[in-house]
Amino acid sequence: MTDSLFSMDGDFAPLAELAELAERYDAMLMVDEAHATGVFGRLGRGVCEESGVERGVHIRVGTLSKALGSMGGFVAGSAALIDWLVNRARSYIFSTAPPEALAAAALKALDVVLGDPHRRTLLRQRAAMLRAGLQRQGWNTGRSNSQIVPVILGDPQRTMDFSRALQDHGLFVPGIRPPAVPPGECLLRISLSYLHSDEDVQRLLDALAQQADRPPG
Ligand SMILES: Cc1ncc(COP(=O)(O)O)c(C=O)c1O
Repeated sequence: MTDSLFSMDGDFAPLAELAELAERYDAMLMVDEAHATGVFGRLGRGVCEESGVERGVHIRVGTLSKALGSMGGFVAGSAALIDWLVNRARSYIFSTAPPEALAAAALKALDVVLGDPHRRTLLRQRAAMLRAGLQRQGWNTGRSNSQIVPVILGDPQRTMDFSRALQDHGLFVPGIRPPAVPPGECLLRISLSYLHSDEDVQRLLDALAQQADRPPG
């Protein structure tokens, strides 16, 4: 069981290798595409599509709450699995169904994902521009290769101070501390969307350049 795109570091699981292992050992592979739906893949189906492993993945889950801008989530799998979940998943049976307005919003968003692929191309280009700019300034962006770009600072106090300073510039970049990340790996979590402009990215880079001069702690 794995995320396809990891939520804090913005890096990818080795899906092809995992699918091969699952096949070799007759195991099922479940992938959470929460951060990849609508962003990766030719049709926006996620990293499983992008890396050509859809057939080797038995269960795919995702959320409607990120790129799709609604709420709720989905499980995709075999008819037998879905039938079993519909009948046995307590959280499904005993919770009120999501309001239809949310379902309608998600359906509309799927139309946008399918009809407007240039949005994900542009988002990924902007993220690459942001990563390059950060790296030029000497920040550690880890293994990020997506629209989630960490600035790994390590120290919790420094991370929260930076986050607050960015907020003073009108930039919402949450500081992430344990247990969301391992101790010593505190980070600023930059999450770009299609709606961010090149100017927004530059504003963030300028604000971070000022922070670079701040003494630690
Ligand atoms: C990997 C992953 N899966 C699932 C979720 C849950 O999505 P939701 O908030 O829509 O329940 C999140 C995040 O919030 C996530 O990061």
